[in-house]
Amino acid sequence: MDKFTYQNPTRIHFGEGQIAAITNDIPQDKKVLVIYGGGSIKKNGVYEQVEAALSEHNWGEFAGVEPNPQYDTLMKAVKKIKDEGFDYLLAVGGGSVVDGTKFIAAAAAYQGEDPWNILAQQHPVESALPLGCVLTLPATGSESNMGAVVSRGKDKLAFMTPKVQPLFAVLDPTTTLSLSPRQVANGVVDAYVHVMEQYLTFPANAKVQDRFAEGLLLNLIEEGPKALATPDDIDVRANIMWTATQALNGLIGVGVPQDWTTHMIGHELTGNYGIDHARTLSIVLPAVMRERREDKEGKLLQYAERVFGITEGSTDERIEQAISHTIAFFKQMEVPTSLSDIELGTADIDTLVTSLERHGMKALGERGNITISDSRAILEAAL
Ligand code: NZQ
Repeated sequence: MDKFTYQNPTRIHFGEGQIAAITNDIPQDKKVLVIYGGGSIKKNGVYEQVEAALSEHNWGEFAGVEPNPQYDTLMKAVKKIKDEGFDYLLAVGGGSVVDGTKFIAAAAAYQGEDPWNILAQQHPVESALPLGCVLTLPATGSESNMGAVVSRGKDKLAFMTPKVQPLFAVLDPTTTLSLSPRQVANGVVDAYVHVMEQYLTFPANAKVQDRFAEGLLLNLIEEGPKALATPDDIDVRANIMWTATQALNGLIGVGVPQDWTTHMIGHELTGNYGIDHARTLSIVLPAVMRERREDKEGKLLQYAERVFGITEGSTDERIEQAISHTIAFFKQMEVPTSLSDIELGTADIDTLVTSLERHGMKALGERGNITISDSRAILEAAL
């Protein structure tokens, strides 16, 4: 295990009714901009709860952050902040709203010429507006991490800085009851792949991280299908919500190698074809497992045994079974597992590879040895 320094400064308010907690978390002297998406929060009672919690605050709102938040939309919020003097941001929604708010927080305080360079050039973020969030879709982990992903045209790019980590996050599982089955499934699969990207690398003798990761995977395998079969079960929602937060709050990734190949290739699928984020991951991950089986052999066997109880057969057979079980779980969650499932084919691989190259994704993987031609092979394996 490598050395690390770990701190997760986001205060979590978990459970029904916890939106009220934001009253005390946001200082009274702040002018708060509430940022949300396409309006789901106005149909499920979340907006009213936020309104009640902020009844003694000076606040305004910015609506319309889209799934895969768009730079041009976010810059409209930046203008509003500068014009009207907001100095605290509250994101209310899914990962896109939280990510979008993180970018807005950084862009509003950015001293350079073009805030897009926070993403395109990875310009350091010197300061950002303070922000908190009310999460309504368990998936991304954005509620208690320092990352955000923003799109501009076909470019979908990420940045990370502790300056935009939410100061607090409200996780009320009852807010997730209004999610469509598709969004529920997407959330479970996104969280699953977050764990895999931090776990399925090479053994680092990091027992806490490994066993915690395996526990999170088992939760998702157990609870994910239940969330589709019995959508009103609040205990299931609660376990999924807390699992998804833990999947990407930094804890299981400390001191261990990480491999974000599936995400980086997945971002090109969203950027070029508009595929939901999680559905890109369920397509790419099995192909990464198959193509990188030599690099990942030790952890693939550990995953096979500890997550699926596979102990019989040759190394190749156990790895193949682990991949099949992973695909079967994704199918149970009703997400695509191949490019053909979303009607993409060989001709589209050139487009995806060109985008990867343009975005500098030339040395991916836990060893930095996944070249552009390896990514092509992964995409071919995903056909
Ligand atoms: O916009 P509204 O009307 O709120 O509707 C949203 C949206 O249409 C809806 N929704 C959210 N909560 C709801 C609800 N509908 C009914 N009831 C509720 N309670 O769901 C739709 C999708 O929302 P979105 O926020 O886009 O989904 P998700 O949370 O999956 O976020 C995806 C984004 O996060 C990025 C992805 O790339 C993508 O852009 N990611 C961010 C990460 C991070 N910051 O660490 C890591 C992730 O892997 C991911 O890359």
